[in-house]
Amino acid sequence: MKRRSIPNASSANATFLLALLLLVTISPSFLQHCLARRESHHRPPPGGLHHAPPPTPVTPPPPPASSATFSVLDYGAVGDGATDDTKASADKLQLAFAAAWSAACAGGASTVLVPASYVFLVGPIMFTGDSCEPNMAFQVDGTILAHAGSTAWRSGVVTQWLEFKNVRGLTIKGCGTIDGQGSQWWGGASFAGDVEMELDSDRIGTSYRPTAVRVFQGANVTVTGITIRNSARFHLTFDTCRAVEVHDVAVSSPGDSPNTDGIHLAGSVGVSIHHTTIACGDDCISIQDGCSDLFIRSVRCGPGHGISIGGLGKGGASAVVSGVTVQDVTLNQTMTGLRIKTWQGGSGSVKSVRFSDVQMSAVKTAIVIDQYYCDHTTCTNQTSAVAVAGVAYQGVAGTYTERPVYLACSDAAPCSGIHLADILLAPVKDSGRHLQGPFCWKAYGDEVRPVEPPVDCLSAGAP
Ligand SMILES: *[C@@H]1O[C@H](CO)[C@@H](O)[C@H](O)[C@H]1NC(C)=O
Ligand SMILES: *[C@@H]1O[C@H](CO)[C@@H](O)[C@H](O)[C@H]1NC(C)=O
Ligand SMILES: *[C@@H]1O[C@H](CO)[C@@H](O)[C@H](O)[C@H]1NC(C)=O
Repeated sequence: MKRRSIPNASSANATFLLALLLLVTISPSFLQHCLARRESHHRPPPGGLHHAPPPTPVTPPPPPASSATFSVLDYGAVGDGATDDTKASADKLQLAFAAAWSAACAGGASTVLVPASYVFLVGPIMFTGDSCEPNMAFQVDGTILAHAGSTAWRSGVVTQWLEFKNVRGLTIKGCGTIDGQGSQWWGGASFAGDVEMELDSDRIGTSYRPTAVRVFQGANVTVTGITIRNSARFHLTFDTCRAVEVHDVAVSSPGDSPNTDGIHLAGSVGVSIHHTTIACGDDCISIQDGCSDLFIRSVRCGPGHGISIGGLGKGGASAVVSGVTVQDVTLNQTMTGLRIKTWQGGSGSVKSVRFSDVQMSAVKTAIVIDQYYCDHTTCTNQTSAVAVAGVAYQGVAGTYTERPVYLACSDAAPCSGIHLADILLAPVKDSGRHLQGPFCWKAYGDEVRPVEPPVDCLSAGAP
C-alpha cells in the first residue's frame, strides 16, 4: 500500500527533492503566508503592565523526529473536494484518510500528510490511538472541508467531525486550514452575537451540530500552525486530556455564529495555550468541569465571548476547576472579557484563578462573575452553588461599552478572595449602550489601587 511514503528525512531521494522544489515554485505566496502568520503572533506584551513571571506550564515533550510520512494521496484520496460534495466522494476520502492513519500508526512516530494545494471534502472521521504506536503527527498543509450544512451528514448522533481518540503523543501541525463550513448550520437562529445560545439549539432535526476537531483522552498532544474556521459548533475541543500545548493557531468564524467556542476544554489537566488568535461567536476559550493547571498567554480574542470558566453546575452537577493562569491577552469587541459563570444549584468550586496583563478594547462587560448563569428566560434560585474562591485580576486595562465589573455571587455561597489590582477601565461613550457602574452582590475580597472605576461594592475581608 505505501507507494510513496518517505522512509526517513536523511534518505530523501530525488523524487522528494523534486516534489519539494515544485511546492516551493508553485506556491511561494502560500509559504510566505504561513511564515508571516507565525511572525505576527509573536509580539511584546502590552506596555506598562509587567508582573512576576507565572509558574512554568505543563507542556508535552517535543515529539521525536518522524520516521515516515504517509500522504493521504497515496491511499486513494483525490483532493478536488471543493467541487465534489457527494457522499460517494466523501466516503472514498474517509477510507483514504483512515488507511493513511492506520498505515502510519503501525510504525509510530510517523506523519499523516494532508498535502498543500489540495482541498479534501470529508465526512466525520475518528482517528483512534487504539492499536497505534505513540507520537504520531497529523500534518495539514492543504485544506480539509466539512460538508456544508446538515443534510449531507449521516443521520444518527455525530457530534464531532474530526476526532482524535485515545492518542499518546500527537502533534497536529501544518500551514493548512480545517474549514467546518458551518454557515448552513448557523442559519435560522435569530442571534445578535452578544447573547448566549441554549445548548438545545445544537440539534437540528436528528442531526447535532458537530465540533470541528475534538481530542478525546489524549496525552502529550500539541496543536500548532493550523487555521480552524467556520465550525458548525466548537472549533477545537480537548476532553479528558493530559499535557496539551496549543500555539500559533488561528481560529476564525463570525461573531454571530452561535455556540462556536474557539477552544473548549473539559476534564483536561496541564494545558498551555499561547500565541493564538481566536475570533468566533461564543467563548474564545471555554473552561469546563475537571480542568486544572491551565496556562493561557499571548492570546488575542475577538469577536467572541471572551475567556470563560463555566457554565458550571448545570442541573445540580458538581464541578471543580482550579489553577488557571491567564496572562498577556487582548480582548477586542467581545461580549464579556474575563468571565466565571455558574448555575444555581450546583456544587464544587472554582479556585486559584489569576488573570494578569489584560488589554481590552470595547468589551461589553469587562470582568464578570455570574453565579446566576442561565441561558434561557427563567432559572430559579437554589440553596447550593459552585463556590468561587481566590480569583485575582492584576493589570486589566482598556475600554468597555456597558459595564466594567459585574460580580453577582450567590446568597448560598458568596465569592471570597476576589483581588482587584491595577485595573484601568474606561467607558466607550458613543457605543449606544446604557453605561452602568460596577455591580457586586455577596462578593468579598480586596482592592489594590489604582482601580478605576473604584469597585466600592466589593466587601472587604471574608464572608
Ligand atoms: C507524556 O510525556 C511524558 C514526558 O516525556 C512521559 O513521561 C509520559 O509517559 C507521556 N505520557 C504518555 C501517556 O505517553
Ligand atoms: C478590533 O477589531 C477591529 C475589527 O473588528 C479592528 O478594526 C480594530 O483595529 C481592533 N482593535 C484593536 C485594539 O485591536
Ligand atoms: C435570586 O437571588 C438574587 C440575589 O438574592 C436576587 O437578586 C434574584 O432576584 C433572585 N432570583 C429569583 C428568580 O428569585
